[in-house]
Order: sequence, then structure tokens, then C-alpha cells
Amino acid sequence: MAHWLVKELTDLGATDIELKELGIQEDTKDLQLPPIVVARYGNDPAKKNILIYGHYDVQPAQLEDGWNTDPFTLVEKDDALYGRGATDDKGPVICWLNILQAHNELKLDIPVNLVFCFEGMEESGSLGLEGLIEKEKDAYFKGIDAVCISDNYWLGTKQPVLTYGVRGCNYYSITIEGPAADLHSGLFGGVVHEPMIDLSHLFAKLVTPSGEILIPGIQDMVATLTPEEDALYDSINFDLEGFEGNIGSKTVIHDNVKSALQARWRYPSLSIHGVEGAFYGSGAKTVIPAKVIGKFSIRTVPDIESAKLDEIVIKYVEDEFAKLGSKNKLKAELIHDGNYWVSNPHNWSFRAAARATKKVWGVDPDYTREGGSIPITLSFQDILKTSVILLPVGRGDDGAHSTNEKINVPNYIEGTKTLGSYLHYLAEEEKDA
Ligand code: BES
Ligand code: MN
Ligand code: MN
Repeated sequence: MAHWLVKELTDLGATDIELKELGIQEDTKDLQLPPIVVARYGNDPAKKNILIYGHYDVQPAQLEDGWNTDPFTLVEKDDALYGRGATDDKGPVICWLNILQAHNELKLDIPVNLVFCFEGMEESGSLGLEGLIEKEKDAYFKGIDAVCISDNYWLGTKQPVLTYGVRGCNYYSITIEGPAADLHSGLFGGVVHEPMIDLSHLFAKLVTPSGEILIPGIQDMVATLTPEEDALYDSINFDLEGFEGNIGSKTVIHDNVKSALQARWRYPSLSIHGVEGAFYGSGAKTVIPAKVIGKFSIRTVPDIESAKLDEIVIKYVEDEFAKLGSKNKLKAELIHDGNYWVSNPHNWSFRAAARATKKVWGVDPDYTREGGSIPITLSFQDILKTSVILLPVGRGDDGAHSTNEKINVPNYIEGTKTLGSYLHYLAEEEKDA
């Protein structure tokens, strides 16, 4: 993908194209990190400089997971494009390329200078990117006036949105080791401390079935909901049926859309993701797994302090494990973390995006936050001392990370126009002091 992007960008007339190599992934022997692709389009000192970020890596996908078509072959069906990355985030990256192509073919000037930054480790916590931003802040990324990221989705299927917040994500593992090898449960059930049993008890101590986090001290760090903030949720064009449509079932915890949205956007959540080493095949294997690694993450929000959270979580897991009285060995650790971000949705960049939305879609956008995470958002804002906007192309039901991920053709086409118009309106808008 990185090399493909270099070729596309070259053909489209981008300049200063570089593959920024990130070296070997920490904790591996020889796993090369994928390079970050940077490029410029336009270098006129009279124009504003806009950094465009996207990611070319995707989540894994296999036909057997339940895809109707090969996940790595783009298939057009019923006015939608199916394939892994269609909406997250190869599709939007290609929208940006289309904008260059359109301007070239129409011999139209782009009224801002573009600096592209496309990475390949977003889905794994953007390893290496923050270091690159730090290193290039006074070089390749010097003088950036605004950052635009198209890597999220509309809330529903009809209403365009501009997004001014994401949650952070701290991802943890719990490793429990006991017997030297997997055991026969007939021979050793009731005789040994079983790692899976320990892990199940620990999982149950993390969160309730209705989503309440059981680890003390986290809720205390969450910023209080003010009446003004609460009122922002009243005008959002979305309902519980919309959520159920996204999910494909009626399993929402909340009985009203406001608390569901607040749960998604402004409160922390804890999800349990999986267990390495557990027996997961079909059938009934009577095994005692010798070593299991349970994985969970916490979505973070203002004002949770990431380092403090890690300390609280790891200590809690260790304390709860000690209470089990198991003779197995436990190790709880952080796998990766990423910051939350919340911005002012009325600055010049948002004004330009609102005008673009109105122009292309004929309606004013809703202003949303996201429950998902794009860890690099805050790094761009803080290190480059600039504002960031999330300007999504896809819809809430696109199935990012899921099977049969898609992007609707109208979103792809009109979304491209929206991103392109945004660049034109940016040139017109006056940058805030
Ligand atoms: N595009 C998503 C971020 C996103 C998710 C935006 C949901 C809006 C709604 C991004 O590719 C992603 O999946 N991020 C990961 C980050 C994690 C690895 C730190 C996520 O949110 O799980
Ligand atoms: Mn993404
Ligand atoms: Mn993703």
C-alpha cells in the first residue's frame, strides 16, 4: 500500500514524496514497521498549508468470518463498494487522491498547499507516528495551518456530520500461566488451579453486563457533565432505531438516545476482546489450557489521566487476582494507549467544512464526537500547535472492523466533493486568532 500510494501520488503530480522508515517494531526481533508516506501538493508561500492524514492499514479479514465476498477484492453491489478498508480508511484516502486527479483534469487550482501523511500502523496504535511528527514539526510539517482527518463515520445513514472529539483507548492484557502444558480435564480437573477459571473471575470483576466499570477510581476522573454540554445532545438527528440499525439488533443498554450517545462519546467504557490460548474451536475438547492471555481495553475521555489509569487498572487486576488464592502466575500489562481529543467545533476549519457540507449535501451538518479512537489526533494538535477536524465520508452502518465492510457510492462521490470543497472554503475562511 505504501508503494502503491507513492506511485499514485507521483502520477498525480505530488512532490517531495518520501517513505519515512520507522525501523524495527519494539519487542520484536526483525519486524519492520510499515513506512509513513509523506508528500506535498503545492508549495505556494501565499497559501495556507493543510495537513491531510489517513491510514492505509486495515483490520484483518477472512472470508470465513462471514463475508459475502472476498474481503480483499473490491466488489460493487447495490450502489455500495464492499471490501476491507472500504470505509476504514482506504476509501477516504482514495477520496483525497481523486481530488488531486479531478483538479488536474479540470485544470483547477487547489487554493491551499497540501501535506499528506498516510500511515500504516493506525490500527495498532500508530506506532512511530508521534515520533515522526515530533521530529518533523519544524521540517516537513512546518507551518501547518490545519489538519484534516477523514477516518470516522456519520452517526447514521442520512445526516452528514463534522466531528470534534474522539475517545482515547488504553489496551491491556492479563496473562495467566499455570501448568507447563495443556492438560486433560479428566485427569487434572479439580486438581490444578486453572488459568481460564482465574481469568473468567477477573473478567467478571472488570465490568457489569450493563457496562458499568467496576474498577474504582476511574469514574472520579471523568469531567462532570454540565447542563450546556448535556443540551448539545438534544439537537442531534439520531434515534435509538438508528443505533439498532447500526448494530443489526435490539441490544442497546440504554432506553433513550441521549444516554446512549453520552455513553458512546463522553463516558469511559470497558470492553473485553478475547482470549489467546483458550480453546475456541468447535466441538467439545476436554482441555485445561495451560496459559491464557485475556485482552480488554478502556475507552478514555476528559479528564482521565492515562498513566494514572494504567496504574489503577494494573493494581486492581493484581489485587483481585491475589484474592482468588490461585497458585498460578499473573502478569497484567498495557499493550498500547492513545489519547482522547475534544476540540472547538466552531473554528475556521469547522466553518469551512460546514460550508462544504451545505454546498454538497444541501443540509447543515450535525456536530458529533466519536466513541472510537484515532490516537494521533491529539498529537497533531499539540505538537504542530494547530487545529484538527474530523470530516467523515462513510456512514454509521458501514461495518468498520466488521464483516462486509462497505462504503456507499453516494458517500464516496459526494464525500469526495465535500473534502474537495472544504479545501476551497478553507482558503476563503479567515483563520481564527
Ligand atoms: N477509524 C477508526 C477510528 C474510529 C472508530 C472513528 C470508530 C470513529 C468511530 C480507527 O481506524 C480505529 O479503528 N482506531 C482504533 C484505535 C485503537 C487501535 C487505539 C480503535 O478505535 O479501536
Ligand atoms: Mn480508521
Ligand atoms: Mn479502524
